[in-house]
Amino acid sequence: MARDKAQVKPNSIIQGDCVEILSGLRSPVADLIFADPPFNIGYKYDVYQDRRKYDDYYAWTQSWMAACVKKALKPRGSMWVAIGDEYAAEVKTIGDRLGLHLRNWIIWHYTFGQATKRKFARSHAHLFYWTRDAKEFAFNDMAVRIPSARQTTYADRRANPAGKMPDDVWSFSRVCGTFNERVDWHPCQMPEKVLERIVKVSSDPRQLVLDPFSGSGTTCSVAARLGRKYIGIDLSADYVANSRQRIADTLAGKRAKTDIAENPESLRHLRKVGGGGTGKRRGHTPKPQPSVKTSENPAAEPVMPLFPARQAGA
Ligand SMILES: C[S@@+](CC[C@H](N)C(=O)[O-])C[C@H]1O[C@@H](n2cnc3c(N)ncnc32)[C@H](O)[C@@H]1O
Repeated sequence: MARDKAQVKPNSIIQGDCVEILSGLRSPVADLIFADPPFNIGYKYDVYQDRRKYDDYYAWTQSWMAACVKKALKPRGSMWVAIGDEYAAEVKTIGDRLGLHLRNWIIWHYTFGQATKRKFARSHAHLFYWTRDAKEFAFNDMAVRIPSARQTTYADRRANPAGKMPDDVWSFSRVCGTFNERVDWHPCQMPEKVLERIVKVSSDPRQLVLDPFSGSGTTCSVAARLGRKYIGIDLSADYVANSRQRIADTLAGKRAKTDIAENPESLRHLRKVGGGGTGKRRGHTPKPQPSVKTSENPAAEPVMPLFPARQAGA
């Protein structure tokens, strides 16, 4: 049964099917939608089966994206979708056909791929960034600027002291088992740093952020911490209960701050290596590693904390 807007209240995580819930909206609620659907690659979720026939998954993708765009997204709103290689082309085409305006096709390089022997290790996902209107939308560039190479490397006086906009390839580590922000009750948690950048750039304080596949509650936790309203939806009653607690703990300052930076190498010595998870190596005591700069790995340059408050996500 469709729910109307009265039952879709700001600052709530709702248990249910996002297509059904969003289809029941009488007017759009979201200034920003971030969707990280199951990628149809066989992940083990609580109640959702992540292995569907191609046509079935494609039709479902069309239906949830249409519900987001036609029922939930405000006229000046932005929509971001995370997806893997398998369905990136399809998601791009569906978004375009729904009349959205593609602003960026971002590659999230997650810097911690699987070990492979017979092909190169995959270490990226796609982040599509559309707006509903071609010209009118929130884009807070000053909230997401990063130090430029002119500042960090060349000591160039012509450098813009405000830094530069990040490129369209983002390097943030995945949330590994050893990280402080990891929850142990959800199989695929987005890093808060990725959501911080998206929420800051594509929404203003007090605007509403919607996540139709809220999972562990990353989007809603970050939105709440940054002074936005939020609505999350997930099929799993357990994920919903746990993510409500995660948001409460976040707002109460009880959750450890994320230790993921754009340059994960610079934080290697801060990791809890050996404290659990798959990275454990018996008898191995990690030492602080100086960053090594090579032409193949320019990201290994040391990051200078020029904007500590912004980078800390305060
Ligand atoms: C990739 S996970 C989202 C992870 C999330 N971004 C995070 O950081 O934790 C996808 C989620 O979609 C949920 N899901 C699957 N089908 C759904 C549907 N029709 N409506 C709402 N949630 C659904 C699953 O239970 C799962 O938690």
